[in-house]
Amino acid sequence: MHGVWSSRWTFILAATGSAVGLGNIWKFPYITGENGGGAFVLVYLVCIALVGIPIMMAEVLIGRRARMSPINAMKYAADEAALPHAWAAIGWMGVLAGLMIISFYSVVAGWAIQYIFTAASGTFTGITGESAGGVFANFLQSKGTLLLWHSLFMVMTLGVVAAGVTRGLGAVARVLMPVLFVMLALLLVYAVIKGNFSAGFAFLFDFKFDKLTWSGVLKALGHAFFTLSLGMGAIMAYGAYMPAQGSLAKTVITVGVLDTVVALVAGLAIFPIVFAAPGLEPSAGPGLMFISLPVAFGGMPFGVLFGALFFVLVTIAAWSSAVSLIEPGVAWLIESGKFSRATATSLLSGVAWLGGVACIYSNNWLEDKPGGVFSFVFESLDFLTSQVMLPLGGLLIALFVGWFMRRAIVQSELDAEEHPLFDIWLFVVRWLSPLLVIIVLIAGLVEKFQ
Ligand code: TRP
Repeated sequence: MHGVWSSRWTFILAATGSAVGLGNIWKFPYITGENGGGAFVLVYLVCIALVGIPIMMAEVLIGRRARMSPINAMKYAADEAALPHAWAAIGWMGVLAGLMIISFYSVVAGWAIQYIFTAASGTFTGITGESAGGVFANFLQSKGTLLLWHSLFMVMTLGVVAAGVTRGLGAVARVLMPVLFVMLALLLVYAVIKGNFSAGFAFLFDFKFDKLTWSGVLKALGHAFFTLSLGMGAIMAYGAYMPAQGSLAKTVITVGVLDTVVALVAGLAIFPIVFAAPGLEPSAGPGLMFISLPVAFGGMPFGVLFGALFFVLVTIAAWSSAVSLIEPGVAWLIESGKFSRATATSLLSGVAWLGGVACIYSNNWLEDKPGGVFSFVFESLDFLTSQVMLPLGGLLIALFVGWFMRRAIVQSELDAEEHPLFDIWLFVVRWLSPLLVIIVLIAGLVEKFQ
């Protein structure tokens, strides 16, 4: 009813476009910095491998089986398993989580848009870490500018979703994602030559467990869901448009690996610069990318050009992710038969826009915290989605596919009738991922609130 991606590759591109975004380039480096580096990265990688990718297969599988929006896909799959429609709650929570995420996501994407112009104007040429911090702090005070770019980004997102995801972003992502990869590689080269690469590398890969707390582990788990666009139906909705032929498992693994590589390269590009520039701290918080990369661009030949181009690409990466945040809700509204795609998209974008306005104008309660650029609303939305709703959604999806879907259906969707790895995957989805999520969720929340 919503159309099918033209090929397995279009699905890979769209899913990678959804997965690779601000989560990789902006969020991963700064939360790694705030949580002490190495051990956090290791936990994150374990979560990707043992929880993220297996559950992503489960989520895509439900979508491709039912070929409907997540809410209705869950009803369909529940019917097939003779279970109550209450399972559709996964879809409902997902629509809500998507709206909550895009509210702050769009504001941060707006920062990237502003930085295209800041970079192009030559502001960063020869800039020090300290002045770059000042530029960023000043910018966050101009609420009108924040609002302008947030609004523009929401209109961009609305435009693509209204046009149908297939025709819009598939094509854009195909060309521009590779360019983003190349740009990150370039920054990496700069970081190797001019940065303190060994310190940056050690920070990311020296596994010192003494710094790790349960709430840090929960952040790593939550980020594994966030960065793979998992646990709220985005990837289920994309799976619904996936062609029936082609290996689901290989496709999902490709997406997961690409996403992880981008995050690690972003970290390797950012931290050596942080350690080489006086006045920069890895724990600088949400401003980390907006402070350290300007220092790098400011110190390299053609930095004005590369800097502007880089923030164009970050904007595009955010754009191809943002569309997947409202697609589940939009698809559901269309299926209800009462709305056209355009109306459904406008409605949900309007709600998301208001959420962003709340983020921008709520008091900066956390201002005195180091790097405390997040308002209370901002931080709460991020926490509730990444660290509660996405893991919970993922847990329920794993339990559903692992325990309740008929084995024959699961096997045929995975094309895994005889595959030796099938039983291992099933064990992971039945036992390992759910147990890990439950333990981390409980221990992390208890520690955070005790
Ligand atoms: N994965 C994207 C990023 O890393 C963000 C994103 C898009 C997302 N769709 C999602 C996060 C669905 C959670 C759920 O930037």
